[in-house]
Amino acid sequence: MSAILEIRNATRRFGGLTAVDNVSFSVPSQGVTAVIGPNGAGKTTLFNIIAGTFAPSEGAILLAGTDVTALKPEEKAKHGLVRTFQLVKLFQSLTALENVKVGFHLRTTGGLLAALLRPGWFRTAEADVEERALALLDLVGLSAVARKPASILPYGQQRLLEIARALATEPRILLLDEPAAGLNAEESEKLAHTIRRIAAQGKAILLIEHDMKLVMDIADEVVVLDYGRKIAQGTPEAVKLDRAVIDAYLG
Ligand SMILES: Nc1ncnc2c1ncn2[C@@H]1O[C@H](COP(=O)(O)OP(=O)(O)O)[C@@H](O)[C@H]1O
Ligand SMILES: [Mg+2]
Repeated sequence: MSAILEIRNATRRFGGLTAVDNVSFSVPSQGVTAVIGPNGAGKTTLFNIIAGTFAPSEGAILLAGTDVTALKPEEKAKHGLVRTFQLVKLFQSLTALENVKVGFHLRTTGGLLAALLRPGWFRTAEADVEERALALLDLVGLSAVARKPASILPYGQQRLLEIARALATEPRILLLDEPAAGLNAEESEKLAHTIRRIAAQGKAILLIEHDMKLVMDIADEVVVLDYGRKIAQGTPEAVKLDRAVIDAYLG
């Protein structure tokens, strides 16, 4: 399968420390790819390089073959590389459904402010947008709370809602930054199930995750970092048995 995203020799230094050290891998245009590693392995730094929060010291990020290394997060989003946040960033006073609709408007009007300022954007939202927003809520298992304000949803549901809103922008690849952080076991399982469903719809997902169990259950391919370097890559089954991976996690 063709690669939607390619990380080519990515390196990021902070002073004398090399947080990400010559990391290369590619993400297929469908399925779940996960980056894991112990604390300090360089996961967040790599995520930021890919999302565009900051540039790599060396190396390149290619999206569908186009070099997007130097683009800002908003520009990358326009190219179809969309991220969620570790801290949920929803419009708390809007309903779940309205939050997802904002995602569609972000794409169609070219900006959040434009979407919010457009006179009557909210009332004139096409039936089509409503229907598609409801379908996304169904995909993430939130149909029952569609008309509830985001503020009253439990944390796990807010996470799922953020994912639905990100999907509304129709990304070519969705980046998830430790989506299970702060979730209880039940919420975490629901999230894992949802991520699988999204992938089954033909989406590409790149997941940066500390929770080894979540990754092993849902990833098609796993990339393992330790001290900034890629120490293993393969199926969850293969990576689990890899000597270097076992040592990194136990050590
Ligand atoms: N802004 C920064 N300035 C200096 N050092 C940093 C910065 N961000 C991360 N680091 C260091 O880079 C290494 C990798 O960190 P990080 O990417 O946060 O790892 P992980 O997310 O896997 O825990 C760590 O040693 C960390 O202390
Ligand atoms: Mg981190």
